[in-house]
Amino acid sequence: MSMKLDVVILAAGKGTRMRSKKPKVLHKLAGKSLLGHVVETARSLDADNIQVVIGHGGDEIRREFEGEQLNFVEQEQQLGTGHAVLQCLPCLRDDALALILYGDVPLLKKKTLQKLINEVGKSSLAVLSCDVDDPKGLGRIIRNNNGELLAIVEEKDAGEKERNINEINSGIMAMPVNRLKNWLPDLKNTNAQNEYYLTDVVALAVGQGERVVAVKNQDEREIAGVNDLIQLALIERYIQQENARKLMLQGVRIKDPQRFDLRGEGLIEQDVDIDVNVILEGKVIIKSGTKIGPNCLIKDCVIEEDSEIYANCVLEDVQLGKACSIGPFARIRPGSVLKESVKIGNFVEVKKSELGNGTKVNHLSYVGDSVVGEKVNVGAGTITCNYDGVNKHKTIIGNEVSVGANTSIVAPVKIEDGATIGAGSTITEDVLEKELALSRCKQTNIRGWKRPKK
Ligand code: UD1
Ligand code: MG
Repeated sequence: MSMKLDVVILAAGKGTRMRSKKPKVLHKLAGKSLLGHVVETARSLDADNIQVVIGHGGDEIRREFEGEQLNFVEQEQQLGTGHAVLQCLPCLRDDALALILYGDVPLLKKKTLQKLINEVGKSSLAVLSCDVDDPKGLGRIIRNNNGELLAIVEEKDAGEKERNINEINSGIMAMPVNRLKNWLPDLKNTNAQNEYYLTDVVALAVGQGERVVAVKNQDEREIAGVNDLIQLALIERYIQQENARKLMLQGVRIKDPQRFDLRGEGLIEQDVDIDVNVILEGKVIIKSGTKIGPNCLIKDCVIEEDSEIYANCVLEDVQLGKACSIGPFARIRPGSVLKESVKIGNFVEVKKSELGNGTKVNHLSYVGDSVVGEKVNVGAGTITCNYDGVNKHKTIIGNEVSVGANTSIVAPVKIEDGATIGAGSTITEDVLEKELALSRCKQTNIRGWKRPKK
C-alpha cells in the first residue's frame, strides 16, 4: 500500500530503571543513541513526518537532535501511551498512515515494519506481536477461537488465564490516521494503572466491527526494549555480533566476533584482518589487506591497503596511506595524514601532521603541527616543540632529512631537504639544504680525574 507515512515515536517515559541522569533514549547503542536508531529506521521507510513525544529530559533530547527534520511534541504528564499519541494528533495528516514506534526499541528492521504497514491495507489496525518465553510485565495478545485479534490486556489488568498467554504486544502498531483520530478520544483510564492505554484502541476497533490483526514476529530480539543497563548491554552484544557476522560474510577476518565493536559505520574491505578487542568508531574505512592488531581504537579514519597497525594503538581522524606500519603503542591524533609506507613505532604521538612517503618515526617521539617530507628518519626521543604557551607553531621538514635522537625542534622552524641534525640538538634556527646542524655542548673528557672517596 502506498500511502503517506506519519511516524510517532514515544519517548516521554522516565526510564527509572536505567538509574541514570541521562534520558533513557539518549543512551548509546553501537555508538548511536537509542532514539537515533529508531529515527534512522523511520527514515529508511521514507517517513517525512516524524513526531517524537518527549517529556522527561525533553530539552536534552531536543538538543541532541538539533538541526534534524523531527517534530518534538511535549507530553507534560505521562498519562499513558494513548495519551502520548493523542498529543501528536494535530500534527498527523488525515490521509496518512500512522506508525507508532517506541524510542527504546532500537533493533526493529525495516522489513518487519514494512510488513506491518502492508497489513494495514487489508485491515484497519495492525500490531506487531511475538511469542516469548517470559512475557512478564508485557501486554498480552487476546485472540478468539479463530485466532482473530480481540484485545490487548496489560499484565496489571490481566486475570490468571490471560497471564498464561505467551504472545505479547511489542507496542509497535500501524493504522490510518483518520481511524486513530476516531479512536483516541474514546480511550478511558479506568484500569489498574489509571493510564490511557494506546493498546485499548484494539478493543475499540473490534467493537466497531473493524478488522484488526496481530502480525507475529519470529525474532524476539528484534522487538526487545531497553529498560535497564543489563538489557542495554545484551542488545549491544547482539548488535555487535550482527555487525561482525555481516563483515565476516564480506570477507573480513574477525578473530573473535565476541570481542569486536563497531560503533558507527564501517566500510571494511575483504581480506582485512581484525584481532581481538578492536573498537571502530564513527566512520571508518579500511581497505583490503590491512591488519589491525589487538586492543586498537580507530575512530573516523581512512586506512589504505596493506597497512599494519600493531597492538594497542589509538588512531583518530587519520588518513593512513598504503603499506604503513603503526605501533605497537602509538597514538595518531586528529588531522594527521600519513602517506605511503610510513613507519610509526612504539610510544610515538603524532598530531595534526603530514608525513611523506617512507618516513619513519620509530621510537618515543612527538610530532605535532608538522609537515614532514619523504624518506625522513626521525630519531628516538625527538620532540617538536610546537607550543610557546600561547600559540601553536609549525615545523617544516623537507625530504630525506635525518634527525638525530633526542632532538628538540623548536617551532616555527624549517629544516630543508637532505639536512642532518646531530643527536641531542635543540634546533631553533632554520637549517638549509644538506647542512649538518649541531647544537650541543662539546664533550669534555678529563684525564686523570679521581672519584671522591668515602
Ligand atoms: C507498553 C504496552 C504493552 C507492551 C509494552 C512493550 C501500553 C499500554 N502497553 O507497556 O502492551 O507489551 O509496551 O514494551 O501501551 N511513553 C510515553 N508517554 C507515556 C507513557 C509511555 O511517551 O505517558 C513511552 C515510553 O517512554 C516508552 C513507551 O511509551 O518508550 C512505552 O511505555 P512503557 O511505560 O514502557 O509501557 P509498558 O507499560 O511497558
Ligand atoms: Mg516498557
